[in-house]
Amino acid sequence: REEDESGKGLKVFDPAFQNTAVAYSKITYINGDTGALRYRGYPIEQLAEKSTYLEVAYLLIYGELPSKHQYASFSHEVMHHTFVHFNVTELMRKFNYDAHPMGMFISCISAMSTFHPDANPALAGSNLFIQDERVRNKQIYRLLGKTPTLAASYNVPQNNLSYTENFLYMLDQLSEKNYKPNPKLARALDILFILHADHELNCSTAAMRHIGSSLVDPYSAISGAAAALYGPLHGGANEAVLRMLEEIGSLDKVPVFLQEVKERKRKLFGFGHRIYKNYDPRAKIIRKIAYEVFDVCGREPLIDVAMGLEKIALEDEYFIKRKLYPNVDFYSGLIYKAMGFPTDMFPVLFAIPRVAGWLAHWKESLEDKESKIWRPRQVYVGPSVRSYVPLDLRE
Ligand code: CMC
Repeated sequence: REEDESGKGLKVFDPAFQNTAVAYSKITYINGDTGALRYRGYPIEQLAEKSTYLEVAYLLIYGELPSKHQYASFSHEVMHHTFVHFNVTELMRKFNYDAHPMGMFISCISAMSTFHPDANPALAGSNLFIQDERVRNKQIYRLLGKTPTLAASYNVPQNNLSYTENFLYMLDQLSEKNYKPNPKLARALDILFILHADHELNCSTAAMRHIGSSLVDPYSAISGAAAALYGPLHGGANEAVLRMLEEIGSLDKVPVFLQEVKERKRKLFGFGHRIYKNYDPRAKIIRKIAYEVFDVCGREPLIDVAMGLEKIALEDEYFIKRKLYPNVDFYSGLIYKAMGFPTDMFPVLFAIPRVAGWLAHWKESLEDKESKIWRPRQVYVGPSVRSYVPLDLRE
């Protein structure tokens, strides 16, 4: 605790928000010691086994599992907002041939704010406008509907397919009109989407709430949240893991690599978590799905390196002492690779389902009558007051 320089109050110094609660939330529960994760009270294991991504998105955003009628209407709305404006498609074509898909994704979501001025309270002339439920729902349908289309722009959407099937359909350049993706792969991806849908106040969701607290439109806020997700300590870790496993190459190289990690020359991507000091429950489910995908697509040989690395790390004093376990990103990339996704697409595959979580937090904070613009404090440690010296008098 530190005295405010104005002398008026106390502020708590908590670098990197390691121990600060900034909101009351009813969305997601995590217990990092036991490795429990629940969306709106439902254990992630049950949702992964029994639910679908779109149902989970509804649950996260609206607080309850939908009735049949609510589900039909919600999926109709989302699947009928899947087309993106032609000019956004044109914008996508203007990037360099080797542009990172996440950079394109972030830019295009940001650009979408210019196509939907109804989501901008400043243009609408009232801060309350964004709090109109119908207007808010419209943005929710658009963002859920259009983000997979931005990520997979080879084919125009087919709204008679499920959310995940349509995404796989759009990705396949050679898809025919009646193409149906392999149901096992569509289900595997749907489960991955469920697992990635929310994770309370992680870096990107905190960014979403922070940016959203200024009442900017949700497209701008989501592009900021997606930018936070892109970092390799967050959602970019799935790409970093795959590149790391490729670099290690074979099981016999694992001990040397881990030694470098312990000497702090390297980072072990896909390990460690701010909250989980036990196995990440999502990583357990993902490890199982990997084998189901390999049955269809063929075994991804890097799985042996990953499992060998995990085994050695979990028996090593360095990792035991620091309670470092595999996180959600450790195995997901192997599944994406087996399914044929390019490595630089992986963070986008994290971002698409996280849109539901970002929107749930955005909606919850807008509906909180007590919420204010986020404005953390700092402890100033720079020079005290001094006089300006003109350039030609400076040494
Ligand atoms: N490899 C090696 N050492 C690690 C790792 C790691 N992956 N993660 C943490 N440590 C060490 C760290 O050096 C520190 O050691 P010491 O106490 O001796 O200084 C100790 O463990 C505590 O770590 P921390 O950096 O204080 O933990 P944090 O809560 O600030 O960071 C993290 C959490 C996820 C950023 C970090 O564990 C990390 O960098 N992991 C690798 C990147 C990664 O896989 N990110 C995905 C996270 S899960 C999904 C998501 O959020 O997107």
